[in-house]
Amino acid sequence: MLLYSGGEGLANILVLNGSARPRGFTAAMISAFCKGAEEGGNNVSVINLSSLKIHSCIGCLKGGKDSLHPCAIRDDMDIIFGEMKTAEVIVFATPLFFWSYSGTLKNVIDRLWALAECDRSMLIGKGRAGALLVAAGGSHPELLYEHFDYMMTRLAWKNLGHAEILHTDEQDINNIPFCESAYRLGKSIK
Ligand SMILES: Cc1cc2nc3c(=O)[nH]c(=O)nc-3n(C[C@H](O)[C@H](O)[C@H](O)COP(=O)(O)O)c2cc1C
Repeated sequence: MLLYSGGEGLANILVLNGSARPRGFTAAMISAFCKGAEEGGNNVSVINLSSLKIHSCIGCLKGGKDSLHPCAIRDDMDIIFGEMKTAEVIVFATPLFFWSYSGTLKNVIDRLWALAECDRSMLIGKGRAGALLVAAGGSHPELLYEHFDYMMTRLAWKNLGHAEILHTDEQDINNIPFCESAYRLGKSIK
């Protein structure tokens, strides 16, 4: 079933916030992204992953037996699985940690595999689309982009692109400028 049709109506957008700082740079990007996306008439839900209890994947490959609880581990990941049922666009929002996703967000990405254990089509394809928001203290998010782009290809999700704020470590966290690139990315979803 095609969920995201791009340009033909409203989308249900799920933002997975991998930052623990409620007023940090990732949060500022999410807020600009949401403004753009909501102006276009989309429905946006933001999940602050750091407020949930989500265990890291234990690699048991014993999930997929119950589509209500796809993973063998029962924890707050069930909230994400619930949201994934109707999400057409998934936005991965993260601080750049060691040139990659925050561990909080990567845990959630790993755990998504349980959907494919139920049925590949619950994760792969399904007409979904993905986008990436990155706040980097320095200036080298390229490896993360490479991973994200490859992940979109392998998941067969439409890649809606990236937005970034660089050099956050040189900026005042109490005076974060409006993030135009995140706003434009949100606005581009129609
Ligand atoms: C554990 C850790 C690892 C980090 N690794 C990088 C890095 O590899 N490259 C970089 O540019 N900034 C790095 N930073 C800086 C963060 O990307 C930056 O502070 C970012 O703004 C944090 O996002 P937040 O404001 O949403 O918390 C790191 C920060 C921490 C705490």
